[in-house]
Parts: sequence; structure tokens; C-alpha cells
Amino acid sequence: MKGTFYVVGVGPGDPELLTLKAARILAKSPVWLVPAAKKNGRSTALEIAGGAVDSTGKKIITHHFPMQKVYGGQPPEPLVVAAWEQAAALINEHLRAGRDVALPTLGDPALYSTGFYVCETMLAYNPKAGINIISGVSAVGAASAAAGIPLCLGDERLMVIPAVFADNYLRQALRDFDTVVFMKVHKALPRLVPLLEELGLLDMAVLVERADMADQRIWRDVRAARDEKLHYFSTMIVRKK
Ligand SMILES: C[S@@+](CC[C@H](N)C(=O)[O-])C[C@H]1O[C@@H](n2cnc3c(N)ncnc32)[C@H](O)[C@@H]1O
Repeated sequence: MKGTFYVVGVGPGDPELLTLKAARILAKSPVWLVPAAKKNGRSTALEIAGGAVDSTGKKIITHHFPMQKVYGGQPPEPLVVAAWEQAAALINEHLRAGRDVALPTLGDPALYSTGFYVCETMLAYNPKAGINIISGVSAVGAASAAAGIPLCLGDERLMVIPAVFADNYLRQALRDFDTVVFMKVHKALPRLVPLLEELGLLDMAVLVERADMADQRIWRDVRAARDEKLHYFSTMIVRKK
């Protein structure tokens, strides 16, 4: 295996938030395997990467990764596993031919990113595969900066959690932590607002949609966003202090 596979965090949207290292790796990789949430859909990660690095002459493979929940300790949906396996096979083909492959991924690869699943799948086939993870600016930090509120200071404790999980799970997080960052809130707001109300936390919630993108929106009264058609790139911060 000669080439190297790079999972590259491209930040939350503004190409200026792509790191110098991410830009260098993308520039030197002749193949980009870019994730798309919908079949034949566009890839936001590609749009961000292409905003910072010239993609002329690159082989760009748009690969569909279905958006399904993956629960720890439970086997993932076969459809999802198939997408990881197809991606790993495509990447391996290029690595064997000596070509580096970059997978640009939104935000930071460490947080709810497909990148690590693809790495694990590749390593299962070939434990010697050359893999590098390039960290990026997460939407968690970007939402905090856009809203102008810290995530935690001093001895405060932070929880990051997708809002797609059951109410009791979300309620527990809100009870136990000083700050909770909810990702994937775009469809969960009708459930989240009553939950925040129940716990007396409505005034402490801020919702950031498309942080660092041209059409960024911020709600400091999250009830006002209940009837909006929110974009998937929406993050809520609930900071108690
Ligand atoms: C699958 S997670 C990926 C997180 C990513 N790895 C990161 O570090 O930001 C997708 C979620 O990230 C959040 N997100 C990504 N980009 C965002 C942006 N520009 N503004 C607000 N939230 C964003 C949203 O909560 C979205 O549902």
C-alpha cells in the first residue's frame, strides 16, 4: 500500500476556518472522496474544501453515506455498513496505485463524523493501511463563537449530544451538565422546547443555524424558531451559568 488516506476536517462552513494543514493535505491529494448525505446530492464538505483549495484536475468521487442513527453496542444498518465498505474499497484502489486520497469532512472528524467509520472499515481489511486524521474547527466551537458565549469556564462540565435521541436521554444531559450542546437539532426543536421549559432552561438556550456561513441565523429565544424550517446545520447551546 503506497498512498495515504487522509480524513480532513474542513470546519463548519467558512473556508477561512479550514486549517493550513487541511489546505496543504487537500492540495497534495490527487483524489478527493467527498461525502454526500443524499443520493446524487451535493457535498457541503466539497463546497467548503473547494472554497479554500483549487480542485482543478482532482479526481472527485462523490460518495453517498446514508444518514441513519448508529447506536453503540448495536449493529449498524446494513445500508450504512455497505456505504462504508464501498468507500473503503474505492479508497484502497487508489492507495494501491500510489495515490493519496483525502476525505473532506464537516467540522472536526472527532465529532459524529463518518470519517472514523471509514477508517475502521479500511483497517479491518488492511491493518497496515496508511491513515491520517487532520483535525478541524468544529461546529461546536463555531456556534459558541457566533453566539458570543463560552461553552465552559472554570469547573463547569460540558456535554455534546445529538438531539435525535430519546427525551429521557436529553433530559438527563440537561440535568447533569452545566452546558449542553445539542447537534442535529433541526427536526428536534418541537421536542426540545417543552423539555427546556419543563426544566426552566428556556432563557439559557441559543440556537445557531449555519454558523460561519453567509446565511447564518441566531435565535436567543429558541421558541421563535419552532415554526421555522431549520437547516441540518443547526446547533443549540444551553449554558446554565
Ligand atoms: C454529523 S454532525 C457533524 C459535526 C462535525 N463533525 C463538527 O465537528 O462540527 C452534523 C451536525 O453538526 C452541526 N453543524 C455542522 N455545521 C454547522 C454549522 N455551520 N452551523 C451550525 N451547526 C453545524 C449541526 O448540529 C449538524 O446537525
